[in-house]
Amino acid sequence: MKKGILFTALFLFSVALVMSQGRRNFRSNTIPLIGVEAPSFTAESTKGTINFPADFGSSWKIIFAHPKDFTPVCSSEILELAYQQESFSSLNASILVLSTDILSQHFLWKAALEEINYKDRGARNINFPLVSDDSYRVSNLYGMIHSEESIGENIRGVFIIDPDNKVRSILYYPNEVGRNIDELKRTLIALQNTRNNNNVVTPANWKHGDDFMVPVISAQEKANIGNPDSPYYQLSWFMTYKKNQ
Ligand code: BEZ
Repeated sequence: MKKGILFTALFLFSVALVMSQGRRNFRSNTIPLIGVEAPSFTAESTKGTINFPADFGSSWKIIFAHPKDFTPVCSSEILELAYQQESFSSLNASILVLSTDILSQHFLWKAALEEINYKDRGARNINFPLVSDDSYRVSNLYGMIHSEESIGENIRGVFIIDPDNKVRSILYYPNEVGRNIDELKRTLIALQNTRNNNNVVTPANWKHGDDFMVPVISAQEKANIGNPDSPYYQLSWFMTYKKNQ
């Protein structure tokens, strides 16, 4: 009898120890901040083994993490991504969807999603890889485990990574709010425009084709404002725009 109690106590103690170790590991994950080199990893996916970022060359890369397969909000997000996958490809952006679910689960979920006629737009093949991170390696590398929200799942995280493999944008959403794929695309286009045009930034609600803002202009350019050949105009001395022509 005493042996039984001792054995049960020991068992419960070991379980508690393992769980607390697990929580500590999840907490040890750090977020790669904007401007740093995107952490590299190797993982299995519905498109085979992924070596990130090497396999994606000089494209822009979007890591799109989600909490769990077969959940309603995540399903709607992946479907919205599938409807826009060609436009992301034409923007030279590679999408990787990632979660801590196992690969066989990803295959089942992908097949089920590919049968859905979402918002009357017809069924779509999912051409981007669903990456399995059941070891939590990638999630820890990218700070995707937010223990207060959920212990064993990714958070809704998005990393936009530029052709030089530097992190350019980080978005985190809570479990209860689905992401806006149009906003993701808008951010990508804004990043591409500011990378390709010297000394410009994008104002609030900027969309493709809108005028840029300029953080600094030279005294000569400033003096030329108001002349028809000047690409610049000002709403105030601290708000300078450049025409997007
Ligand atoms: C969802 O994607 O629907 C979801 C994921 C995790 C928790 C709650 C909802």
